[in-house]
Amino acid sequence: MGEFVRLQKYIARCGTASRRAAEKMIAEGRIKVNGTVVTEPGVKVEIGADKVYADNELIKIIKKKYYIMLNKPVGYISSVHDRFGRPTVTDLVKKDISANVVPVGRLDFDTSGLILLSNDGDFTYRVTHPKFKTDKTYIAELKGGITVSGLNALRRGVRIEDYKTSPAEVEIIDSRPGFTTVKITIHEGKNRQVRKMFETVGSSVHTLSRISIGGVHLGHLAEGKWRYLTGHEINMLMHS
Ligand code: URA
Repeated sequence: MGEFVRLQKYIARCGTASRRAAEKMIAEGRIKVNGTVVTEPGVKVEIGADKVYADNELIKIIKKKYYIMLNKPVGYISSVHDRFGRPTVTDLVKKDISANVVPVGRLDFDTSGLILLSNDGDFTYRVTHPKFKTDKTYIAELKGGITVSGLNALRRGVRIEDYKTSPAEVEIIDSRPGFTTVKITIHEGKNRQVRKMFETVGSSVHTLSRISIGGVHLGHLAEGKWRYLTGHEINMLMHS
């Protein structure tokens, strides 16, 4: 069953008038519910089912929009539900956020780091549609090393199955016995793309973590924690 609210509250939540002013509009016969004028202020309407008109214009509830960043730990699925019952990224925010936020794009089960969540479909479209080429930066810890020709191949683009990747920005940022840490930026998002790109040049990814999307950085947010994006960050992602 849907959510029912008093008519004056519904009108206020549409941004049409304050609750007090909405009561006046109702009393004046300016409000229709499903085509019938309603003059009693206490009447309840069902959100999403009943149609409310003010001065013969359909009015709609303004949904609060949420824009969140989460530091995803390894072992979480980037979806709302998992048919195998594994933990999901929304499990990590739903005790604080009751709105239906969904992951904006994906990170693999075994990848950690920055993932965005939102209930704004326009935002999700803007960040994830390939035509906008939103940059995503990852830190990959490789088992062993990587050759100069491997780095250059990634910079030119490599063939993964039937697909040639766009040129990537790649740099070695650290190396220790047995491992090499590489920073890589791509704007595409094919399935397991970063892991497959390194495989094509003979390197194997040990751990993978995303640190930024469209110029928005994870920073020092602890693993498993989330925070709201700032207005500036939302703007950056909408126009990156
Ligand atoms: N590339 C991968 O291989 N895995 C991810 O989770 C993201 C990009």
